[in-house]
Amino acid sequence: MHNPADPELTPARAPFGELFTPHMVTARWQQGEDWSRPHLAPFADLPMSPAMVGLHYGQVVFEGLKGYRRPGGGVDLFRPLDHAARLRRSAERLAMPVLPDTLFQDAVELLVSADQASLPQAPGLSLYLRPLLFADEANLALRPARSYTFLLIAFVTGGFFSDRPDPVTVFVSRDYTRAAPGGTGGVKFAGNYAPAYLAQEQAVSAGCHQVVWLDPVERRWVEELGGMNLFFVRGHGADAELVTPPAVGTLLPGITRDSLMTLAGRQGIAVREEPIAVDQWRQESLDGTLTETFAAGTAAVVTPVGTVRDGDQEWRIGDGTAGPVTLALRDALVDVHTGRAAAPAGWLHRVAPALAPVTA
Ligand SMILES: Cc1ncc(COP(=O)(O)O)c(C=O)c1O
Repeated sequence: MHNPADPELTPARAPFGELFTPHMVTARWQQGEDWSRPHLAPFADLPMSPAMVGLHYGQVVFEGLKGYRRPGGGVDLFRPLDHAARLRRSAERLAMPVLPDTLFQDAVELLVSADQASLPQAPGLSLYLRPLLFADEANLALRPARSYTFLLIAFVTGGFFSDRPDPVTVFVSRDYTRAAPGGTGGVKFAGNYAPAYLAQEQAVSAGCHQVVWLDPVERRWVEELGGMNLFFVRGHGADAELVTPPAVGTLLPGITRDSLMTLAGRQGIAVREEPIAVDQWRQESLDGTLTETFAAGTAAVVTPVGTVRDGDQEWRIGDGTAGPVTLALRDALVDVHTGRAAAPAGWLHRVAPALAPVTA
């Protein structure tokens, strides 16, 4: 494990998911009992039965949220209760016990107050929290488990590296789909992610950065980009409007997506949730109606899309660089994260540092 308190740590040297902080929090649930209190302990391997349900049948859901260091001390968590609510919906879909919001909040407070010294002041660094809920019963019957562990770990990461983010080239997956109607695409189920690796490998082999997922039925409607939601801009300047596919069923309703829709509204940009077909994306990019495309999610915040590849067709969005609406919305969101702009009510939750050194 690296030392996340390394003073040399910069966003470019903080890869996603490696620089774990020194502690973790756990809580347990067993049928017939209530949730245990969250418990802070050193980051360490977990005891696990070889017959653990989560390992065999994948009854596992998770979340991902970020905290940002405040100059005067403390860490502001971005929309933690919305992440708690999504974890509840994910748990319900997987027939798992629901984690009470108060337990989620207590766990987050415990870990962030203990480990916030691990987050350097350097701008662009953030604390990424990974709540995970998994079935830990040792039993291979095909039914929901009767005991579960809630686990919370954290790592230091970058996420936005420069004032002008590099645009990505994206690859429309025609061989694979991410989610099916009636399936689990609308929740943060662990099993949604590994099946995407093969498509991602294809994208990289084709010289692209990320996979565009189409709807699984007609293979026509644009849904998401890797683990991010997609936005499209039509028009320019005061006439610009923002369009994003409706988050129904097979799309994950992103908290960044929701935040950007709110911030766009505040900037007077019209926002519409409307399906967009891949042919329409191409045609409107070529005729100049569609001027920008970007992806949004907690990890990378806002990522401009410069070029799209779909089989032997390739098209550029605008002039292939990050457009003005993309940059304005990204700045607006980063300003809220970093405290430079006032956050809408309820978006930030301050966690103070632990008063005494943590010995757990
Ligand atoms: C499939 C998928 N889509 C979209 C998102 C973006 O969601 P959020 O903005 O809440 O991070 C994520 C990340 O959680 C994701 O995994």
